[in-house]
Amino acid sequence: MMHAEPLLQIENARFAYAGHGAAKPTVDGVTLAVGRCETLGLVGESGCGKSTLARLAVGLLRADEGGVRVMGVDVAAAGAAARLARARRVQMVFQDPYGSLNPRLRIRTLLAEPLRLHRLTTPDQEKSAVDELLRQVGLPPTASDKFPHELSGGQRQRVAIARALAVRPQVLVCDEPVSALDVSIQAQILNLLRDLQQQLGLSYFFISHDLRVVRYIADRIAVMYQGRIVETGPTDTVWQAPQHPYTQKLLASLPPELSGLQAASAV
Ligand SMILES: Nc1ncnc2c1ncn2[C@@H]1O[C@H](COP(=O)(O)OP(=O)(O)OP(=O)(O)O)[C@@H](O)[C@H]1O
Ligand SMILES: [Mg+2]
Repeated sequence: MMHAEPLLQIENARFAYAGHGAAKPTVDGVTLAVGRCETLGLVGESGCGKSTLARLAVGLLRADEGGVRVMGVDVAAAGAAARLARARRVQMVFQDPYGSLNPRLRIRTLLAEPLRLHRLTTPDQEKSAVDELLRQVGLPPTASDKFPHELSGGQRQRVAIARALAVRPQVLVCDEPVSALDVSIQAQILNLLRDLQQQLGLSYFFISHDLRVVRYIADRIAVMYQGRIVETGPTDTVWQAPQHPYTQKLLASLPPELSGLQAASAV
């Protein structure tokens, strides 16, 4: 379901890592918009700049040119108050929750941290707020006493999602959130993200190198190639009638039974 007003706007964003030279930026003039309650999927081969674009989208990197706005607010705006406001609107979910969850903290503390930072609960409300976050991601209250290493990969990713949700963001930037998981667990996490989107009215900027994952979750697809967006469109359109040669190559490289391109050409 998409509404006219874009929530996340990336406008002509250009970014080069220091030393790589401005002649060949890693993100090379990207313009994208994500609407309310919409999922925009981003696909592209390893090294094309997806994670760099994700870091620009959440304000972890600042664009050399162009910029990123969430509800009209520049995510790279300086100052502590602006950073806090940005963090509340846009949260990131990473591929490896091991890397994003402090291994020395119990789940209860990991989930309470953002609540405290943003002063969203009083101390006596904290336990029920943590329980509610766990419930939202399908984990029992007993999970709060555990450390990250005591959970399975899928459970850890649920905790990472709960932590992102704690501050009640409008946009989740998900960078390969299921790539490290077994296929059966991938489907569970994707279904959870879908349910949460419906319940909470979230927008997703969903990055994956796996076209099948993006096809499952995304309303629209953007295809990135060497720092540029070479194609965007509704998921079914891109899947069934890819316009750019690179997208055609990506689809043709999938197993035959899964590729809409090959299914269509077999008819
Ligand atoms: N911190 C960094 N400093 C310098 N170069 C970097 C840095 N991070 C990434 N790069 C380079 O920028 C390019 C894009 O990297 P990026 O991680 O954005 O690609 P990606 O599309 O996310 O790849 P993958 O699918 O493997 O995650 C690559 O050539 C990479 O080597
Ligand atoms: Mg990446």
